[in-house]
Amino acid sequence: MEITNESLQLILERKNEEALIGGGSDRLAKHKEGTRLTARERLDVLLDPGSFVEMDRFMTHRCGNFGMEKKKVLGDGVITGYGRINGKLVYVYSQDFTVFGGSLSSTQAKKICKVLELAMKNGAPMIGLNDSGGARIQEGVEALGGYADIFLRNTMASGVVPQISAIMGPCAGGAVYSPSITDFIFMVKDTSYMFVTGPDVVKTVTHEDVTKEALGGAITHAKKSGVAHFVGDNDKHCLLLIRELLNFFPSNNIDDSPVLPTKDSPDRAEAELNEIVPPNPKKPYNIKDVIKLTVDEGYFLEVHQHYAENVVVGFARYNGRSVGIVANQPQVLAGCLNIPASIKAARFVRFCDAFNIPIVTFVDVPGFLPGVDQEWNGIITHGAKLLYAYAEATVPKITIITRKAYGGAYDVMASKHLRSDVNLAWPTAQIAVMGAEGAVNIIFREEIKKAKDPQAERVRLTQDYEDKFNNPYLAAELGYIDEVIEPAMTRKRIVDSLEMLKNKRDTNPRKKHGNIPL
Ligand code: HXC
Repeated sequence: MEITNESLQLILERKNEEALIGGGSDRLAKHKEGTRLTARERLDVLLDPGSFVEMDRFMTHRCGNFGMEKKKVLGDGVITGYGRINGKLVYVYSQDFTVFGGSLSSTQAKKICKVLELAMKNGAPMIGLNDSGGARIQEGVEALGGYADIFLRNTMASGVVPQISAIMGPCAGGAVYSPSITDFIFMVKDTSYMFVTGPDVVKTVTHEDVTKEALGGAITHAKKSGVAHFVGDNDKHCLLLIRELLNFFPSNNIDDSPVLPTKDSPDRAEAELNEIVPPNPKKPYNIKDVIKLTVDEGYFLEVHQHYAENVVVGFARYNGRSVGIVANQPQVLAGCLNIPASIKAARFVRFCDAFNIPIVTFVDVPGFLPGVDQEWNGIITHGAKLLYAYAEATVPKITIITRKAYGGAYDVMASKHLRSDVNLAWPTAQIAVMGAEGAVNIIFREEIKKAKDPQAERVRLTQDYEDKFNNPYLAAELGYIDEVIEPAMTRKRIVDSLEMLKNKRDTNPRKKHGNIPL
């Protein structure tokens, strides 16, 4: 064929067409059954229209085993590049299940590593859309090496740029470990799975009969294991959720927490808050109502909504500035801290601290959950994670005690002693080593035994203890609480505090890295 500009253009067009059909039209049609989108359609939904720039579209695998040299697909089952989300630069990859089940070859790994490195150098978030059967079996150790190359870069990027993973199909083996190093995992209801080994291997090894859904479906990981932070109803919903989350983040660890315009008045008072804590300390209330009444436009994006619900974490804005919120939930297990809650909150606090997002903590906690199960499973170590995370965090920290702040949990929940900057309390706050009844039973055991009317004596001593400790004023006398505020004014106080702390700079001693109790 004579070489002309036209014929060269034709070759390029043909190659582009070939790359766009991935594993072929039959496989694409099968893949699209139901609400599933193709790898390319997913990027269309995720990114601002027309912003995607693809890289390495023509890369192919180098495997010669099992006749693979005759089965080459342009792009090799992963689409990589960069684009924008609400105008902000992001790097992306999207695995194409129609090409060898999206399995990871060393070529795929090279493509993914290339964008990960660009994300780090240019300080922009990395988003991976995963749909992969794990290591490309035909490649053997080369594919395993490719995974490790990605894991290394995920680890290096951790705390440098936000990393988000969406699990959008059956992800097995190595395909689950890269996501687990990243900051947030999204799954799709009914069509996505994550497991190290699938049901067949489980049956062979442990003789357990389990379905894909029960072993590693979205609900399993959102509720039981806590591996998934968000669940989308379908592909599109999941991708739109990622866009929503990203709005709360700076692009990297050097940028400040973003500020978006808001119409909500910074001075808005909420009289409802004055009545929200029930007079009976054993009665619960919903801490999410408190959060929603104080944040901009009542908009709170909850993370880990269905996991360890005794602690609530998520993102919101005060006068436009992004913050991370951590709150005990009196409605679930009385808001006590147990193992899952400590792990959930600790990882969230560390994310916020890594990316300069101020932390607002609402406290109503009766303590750590007692019990054999908790002790044997290491509540000591896991509870210490949260302690450690709050202690090392140098971002602005604002704490509001709404009711109970008992025992070790008082210390843990962003107390003044852990370098919280502004510690506020409502008049309903009770700051003590433990609840009055428990305390009296321990310290006045003998007096109660010897009393003429032990029950009356117990009631009198309990009342005494409550009068002394079940209020915020002793802590305020000591300067552990900066101000006791009218609950209605909470939003204004938080907004004022964030403004006052806008230029906060604090550091930790120089070290290679700390040793968080993992
Ligand atoms: C090569 C693969 C593949 C793989 C799937 N395919 N997984 N090719 N390597 N790992 C191919 C299939 O041969 C098939 O090709 C196509 O992808 C679709 O797969 P199906 O099985 O038909 O799809 P489905 O029924 O939906 O099942 C999906 C699946 C299953 C659950 C992911 O394919 C599966 O169990 N795959 C293997 C999972 C696994 O054990 N991976 C290795 C993990 S080891 P055709 O040509 O028919 O379309 C690992 C180690 C890393 O990852 C460790 C790092 C720490």
